[in-house]
Amino acid sequence: MKILHIDSSILGDYSGSRQLSAATVAALRQHHPDATVTYRDVGANPPDHVSGGLAMAMNSPDRSALDPALRAAADEADAMLEEVLAADAIVIGAPMYNFGVPTQLKAWYDRVTRAGRTFRYTATGPEGLAGGRKLYILSSRGGSYAGQPFEVTVDHQEAWLKAVFNFIGITDITVIRAEGANLGDEARDTGRANALAEIARVVK
Ligand SMILES: Cc1cc2nc3c(=O)[nH]c(=O)nc-3n(C[C@H](O)[C@H](O)[C@H](O)COP(=O)(O)O)c2cc1C
Repeated sequence: MKILHIDSSILGDYSGSRQLSAATVAALRQHHPDATVTYRDVGANPPDHVSGGLAMAMNSPDRSALDPALRAAADEADAMLEEVLAADAIVIGAPMYNFGVPTQLKAWYDRVTRAGRTFRYTATGPEGLAGGRKLYILSSRGGSYAGQPFEVTVDHQEAWLKAVFNFIGITDITVIRAEGANLGDEARDTGRANALAEIARVVK
């Protein structure tokens, strides 16, 4: 099994989602002792926002005439894309920042959604090409949203992640969340403990 592990928190050692993503990878390794892990920390090493030049470069089959810096950025984006396509399981630590995902995680996704590689347009609409792999989303939130009446209007984090991975064909998605990180020590600890218990129960 090949595992792709992505972290996107900007909070380093204080991060809740990092703790959950690490526990998920550890549980997978326990069930699959031969698993290999590729790790990308886009929170600590953020990719730039995708520029118009990079968007064109990523879709250029011949990059020989490009500025070397742009060519290197496009090659790096390709490496991120290939890591997705090589993975049997993808584990993403994804906090909620301002109701969405960290901008660093969006910048990573902007590199891995690629016409002709992870999706294509057909006469009947878009078709995902990256299916056949498992995705674990480890969600960490300061507040509490799940099951609340306002969840559907303010959740642009888990809902967005599900939508964009469905778009590229990844539909086998498990979301495990720790809520209440900013609602006091007790709420934070309970949220994390529940999420860790769920990881132990469902990650196989
Ligand atoms: C820039 C920033 C924006 C945040 N925005 C929200 C938010 O919109 N809603 C929320 O419930 N918590 C918000 N939080 C709190 C985080 O979701 C919470 O601290 C979570 O545990 C972060 O995960 P992490 O520790 O892995 O980074 C925000 C935190 C930061 C740093």
